[in-house]
Amino acid sequence: MIKILTVYFSLTGTTRRVAQMIASASNSELIELKVQPGMFGDGMNGVWPIAQRQLANHDLPEIVSPLPNFDDYDLVLVGGPTWGYQPATPVRSLLKAAQGSRTAFAPFYTSTGQAGEYEPTFKRLAGSLRVLPGLGTTGSTGQMLDQRIAAWLSQIEK
Ligand SMILES: Cc1cc2nc3c(=O)[nH]c(=O)nc-3n(C[C@H](O)[C@H](O)[C@H](O)COP(=O)(O)O)c2cc1C
Repeated sequence: MIKILTVYFSLTGTTRRVAQMIASASNSELIELKVQPGMFGDGMNGVWPIAQRQLANHDLPEIVSPLPNFDDYDLVLVGGPTWGYQPATPVRSLLKAAQGSRTAFAPFYTSTGQAGEYEPTFKRLAGSLRVLPGLGTTGSTGQMLDQRIAAWLSQIEK
């Protein structure tokens, strides 16, 4: 059996719920990425200007929770919310920190339905990391999420 890590960032809990489902379906360790408390303000409205400033200034948020040694795992599942059709800035921080790793990475991401360029952007930011196909969802269980997660895992766990 391969050793899997599920690592995610979640601002409002949707990606956390999906990450928990994925970790339990894949029997993997689960790690939440944390940034400084209050970094993204206290509500939805402030988040986008803050994230845009981080992108414009190349000032990605610091991950304040301990980062794993990615190479201890055969596969790392990286979860995050879609912000402006792209990966949320803490996911970008993680990909930067993971540079040089030899393991395989696969993105999963939540959105309200318009994930846009999330996956191609993830791949681009991953640079020379090995990236497997991703899973995008709104996090709503009405989408047969369990089955979609199982199908995705069986595709990438090979
Ligand atoms: C700053 C910001 C930008 C967002 N941009 C998008 C977007 O481009 N497309 C979309 O479908 N949802 C967008 N959303 C909604 C989130 O992607 C969605 O609610 C996600 O599931 C939240 O995940 P979380 O609860 O784990 O933080 C945005 C939310 C925020 C706060």
